[in-house]
Amino acid sequence: MTNTNNPLAAPYIDAGNNMKTGGLSDAVVATSSLPQAAVVQQSLARCLESPTFLDAFYERFLGSHQAIRQKFAHTDMARQKQLLKRALLVALMYADTAVSNTLITERVNLLKDSHNTAKLRIEPWMYDTWLDSLVRTVADTDTLYSPYIGECWRKCMSVTIEYLRGEQH
Ligand code: HEM
Repeated sequence: MTNTNNPLAAPYIDAGNNMKTGGLSDAVVATSSLPQAAVVQQSLARCLESPTFLDAFYERFLGSHQAIRQKFAHTDMARQKQLLKRALLVALMYADTAVSNTLITERVNLLKDSHNTAKLRIEPWMYDTWLDSLVRTVADTDTLYSPYIGECWRKCMSVTIEYLRGEQH
């Protein structure tokens, strides 16, 4: 990934090289248990080049159901968008065992904790809406979008979603 404007593209690749291989060849990274992750990483980079991607996602997600909109009634949405930008990458890395590690797992555990508090209490069905909103927004934004790319997003994000909405750890 050569796009220096995108802060997320390079760290993912660096993380892959540093965390998993510990200096071994790139061929080890290529044995990712989740080949769809590379497709999603590139799609995410293209989406984040669009200044409206995160706005469009939250507009769609919050507009999908009143119960979802209510959850964000007191949220600073500008801050939320920046946090989501990072969390999408974390979710992707978590799904891909080739780059996932203790640090990533801790970050996902924090997400799980925050989304399961009595204050937030995210209901399980809301994760399906979240994913639908995300994939539809990717479809509108990614200039190279295809149904296959959409399926890659679903496959990768589902790993993290199933963990987030599972039993408390
Ligand atoms: C894989 C799916 C999701 C990811 C990656 C994600 C990511 C995040 C992140 C990074 C934050 C801010 C940090 C934190 O509070 O932990 C956050 C907060 C929040 N998320 Fe999610 N989220 C997901 C699913 C959902 C769903 C399904 C809902 C349902 C409504 C939701 C509602 C919220 C709310 C209400 C907040 C708190 C906003 C506040 O602090 O006011 N999230 N999420």
